Amino acid sequence: MTVLVTGGAGYIGAHVVRLLQERGDSVVVVDDLSSGIAEHVGSAALVHLDLSTQEAVDKLEGILNEYSVDAVIHIAAKKQVGESAERPAWYYAQNVGGFSHLLQAMQNAGVDKMMFSSSAATYGLPNLPPGQLLTEDTAPNPISPYGETKLVCEWMMRAAGKAWGLRGVGLRYFNVAGAGWPELGDPAVMNLIPIALKALTSGRQPVIFGQDYPTEDGTCIRDYIHVLDLAEAHLKALDYLGRDDRPYDIFNVGTGTGSSVLDVLKQLAASTGYDLQPTIAGRRPGDPAALVADVSRIQDVLGWKFTRGLAEMTDSAWEAWAPVHGAPAVLPASAG
Ligand SMILES: NC(=O)c1ccc[n+]([C@@H]2O[C@H](COP(=O)([O-])OP(=O)(O)OC[C@H]3O[C@@H](n4cnc5c(N)ncnc54)[C@H](O)[C@@H]3O)[C@@H](O)[C@H]2O)c1
Repeated sequence: MTVLVTGGAGYIGAHVVRLLQERGDSVVVVDDLSSGIAEHVGSAALVHLDLSTQEAVDKLEGILNEYSVDAVIHIAAKKQVGESAERPAWYYAQNVGGFSHLLQAMQNAGVDKMMFSSSAATYGLPNLPPGQLLTEDTAPNPISPYGETKLVCEWMMRAAGKAWGLRGVGLRYFNVAGAGWPELGDPAVMNLIPIALKALTSGRQPVIFGQDYPTEDGTCIRDYIHVLDLAEAHLKALDYLGRDDRPYDIFNVGTGTGSSVLDVLKQLAASTGYDLQPTIAGRRPGDPAALVADVSRIQDVLGWKFTRGLAEMTDSAWEAWAPVHGAPAVLPASAG
């Protein structure tokens, strides 16, 4: 099978590209390299293109035809929640505009299989009783333009299915962490583990925003998923697109188990050997106490299940981080 992966030079995309190649698929990557790294696509063909530009439709149609693409995995997007609140029009142009160009090119070229990277950000601040898991049927309520763009793209994918028979599936990623290979670690410092690693290797203690949430240890709970487990879910989703019985088009990808900020930091201390004594600050606006996925649908329908836990995420994140960012500046209590 030949697969076009948009955003294949990025953190998650590079893992998906590598797994596809390992199983023998041909891969062509389209990426504007705004945050991606060209070397991370390995031997896959790489086309440098911003999906949001006007010429993207024709160029994408040409690529789909030239490489005889069977299916598209659409991962490319801008993903900074704060930036999306400051530049909503640009975020819509990037994420929704780019998606629209890709859909048009696929329709023109007669490519009818798409997997789309969605996000738990589509749920926003769900109105759920404590302890209840988020199912795909939980009402979406995005609270940022970023989350809105993901939801709109899900809707566009569904509409294209009705209009011209697109076979689409969206994966709603929860909190992605770790590295499948040390050279493919997350280069962005936006999620808890890279933020904590950056603090530690700069000689600072990590900050916990709020320790007065209605959770066991008072810190926020999230569902962390190893990037390699997530990448494997993409392969299952591709296979699902080829099936005739496809009852659902949206799947949560998480573990179904929450970890608190303190749980993660303790695990990170074990992985790195740092003596972690986090600073406690006030809550950040818009942070719900707990967001944990119900993953029964993806397990039952796609036959996918996570196999890697929090320790594998923090161990592999540290293995990827340490060679690039160096040894501890200070704080080496137990590791030396
Ligand atoms: N990392 C997470 O925790 C997380 C959680 C939920 C959803 N997601 C989604 O997963 C996807 C990948 O995230 P990531 O963490 O790998 O981010 P990333 O920034 O590492 O990867 C995004 C890739 O898309 C490319 N790109 C961005 N805009 C583009 C455009 N207009 N045209 C062409 N290429 C473009 C970038 O250069 C980069 O290679 C995104 O869609 C993101 O919204 C990520």
